[in-house]
Amino acid sequence: MNKRADFGSDLEQAAFWMPFTANRQFKKAPRLLARAEGMYYWTPEGREVLDGTAGLWCVNAGHCRPKIVEAVKRQVATMDFAPTFQMGHPIAFEFAERLARIAPEGFSRVFFTNSGSESVDTALKIALAYHRARGEGQRFRLIGRERGYHGVNFGGMAVGGLQANKKAFGPGVAGVDHIRHTHDLARNAFSKGQPLHGVEFADELERLCALHDPSTIAAVIVEPVAGSAGVLVPPKGYLERLREICTRHGILLIFDEVITGFGRLGHPFASQRFGVAPDLFTTAKGLTNGTVPMGAVFLKDSLYEAFMQGPDGIELFQGYTYSGHPMACAAGIGTLETYEDEGLLTRAQSLEKHWEDAAHSLKGTRHVIDVRNCGLVAAVELEPRAGAPGRRAYEAFVKAFETGVLIRVTADIIALSPPLIVEKPQIDRLYQTLREVLQQLA
Ligand SMILES: Cc1ncc(COP(=O)(O)O)c(C=O)c1O
Repeated sequence: MNKRADFGSDLEQAAFWMPFTANRQFKKAPRLLARAEGMYYWTPEGREVLDGTAGLWCVNAGHCRPKIVEAVKRQVATMDFAPTFQMGHPIAFEFAERLARIAPEGFSRVFFTNSGSESVDTALKIALAYHRARGEGQRFRLIGRERGYHGVNFGGMAVGGLQANKKAFGPGVAGVDHIRHTHDLARNAFSKGQPLHGVEFADELERLCALHDPSTIAAVIVEPVAGSAGVLVPPKGYLERLREICTRHGILLIFDEVITGFGRLGHPFASQRFGVAPDLFTTAKGLTNGTVPMGAVFLKDSLYEAFMQGPDGIELFQGYTYSGHPMACAAGIGTLETYEDEGLLTRAQSLEKHWEDAAHSLKGTRHVIDVRNCGLVAAVELEPRAGAPGRRAYEAFVKAFETGVLIRVTADIIALSPPLIVEKPQIDRLYQTLREVLQQLA
């Protein structure tokens, strides 16, 4: 029999194959979290850790909020599960109604999934099926963007633009292409908010239209602010131009709002902050405050209506056993109530200046080659250590955790996105810790 891990002390033989983790490295020197409340985690030994990342960009209302906890408890004792295939339950309808109320105007339809990855694949399928329903089935191409992250399922992986996430998994989905990313350190380093340069990167879409014939393109998917690839804020005018090109060619524009949704940028959704409307958008994470896994795709009424023509019958052959799961819906309703009670969907606006100043105070700190920010998100990009890319930021992550602050790193970029309940002294502590950590690093 295998030697089993003695939980919390010896994890080297642990059964859990951890996702997106250097398992052998981690299990030799684990970082464990055992409890959470508000802005903080606690380790099993009782050490407090300030959450600078809202868990994994998802705990927007802070941890273990009473309304969410109570809603989930009530629901699990009332009805644990019920199907949503040719059956329904009131709480799924109620949650969808409430979501439609906070969605941008004209987005009154919601399709439930269980994660961001499933939301993305669902949105891509809806886009393809929509064109087919309207007699334009020749639109099969999907366009993503370099450095985009759209989850790990086959569709999202294909339109995503992170090489490491694809290289082990074969040729993927046919008919996918990518526009270039918008990161331009030479012109935009230390931009506050939207960078000035780079609107022309959107013209890459015209180039792909010319290359492939636009009538073969079904959809373009981008994150309004790229998150996982290191917080890339769209240059001024960029999203507007993407929108114009899509409209001109009858291509659907999908915003992946898995990170930007639910108040992260000071508005319920990024499309509202930037004043650019997509045709569909994907969400997850903050949808239930990370409490119960869930995702949702929002679509324009006109898209939904296109499916509701023709003879009676199942209009879209898509769905998950747990689409609209009662516990997830309960968590979601508790989450929306918490957001509403505390004004969290717009609270980032009042903190943004303080957040921006605190972030940019790291300009000039050892190793820092860029700071960028938008809403309550920021990135601090480090000069990679020669011959060891990613190593310096990883060490910063470990040291920050040991010092009591949770940050997140991708390659040599540190990403910060605290719960939206964060207070100014906690923001100051976050950046002060980071400054001290960076000064100690080789
Ligand atoms: C923009 C975006 N899309 C999709 C996903 C995938 O979400 P999940 O991990 O819930 O599948 C993520 C996750 O970070 C994301 O940031």
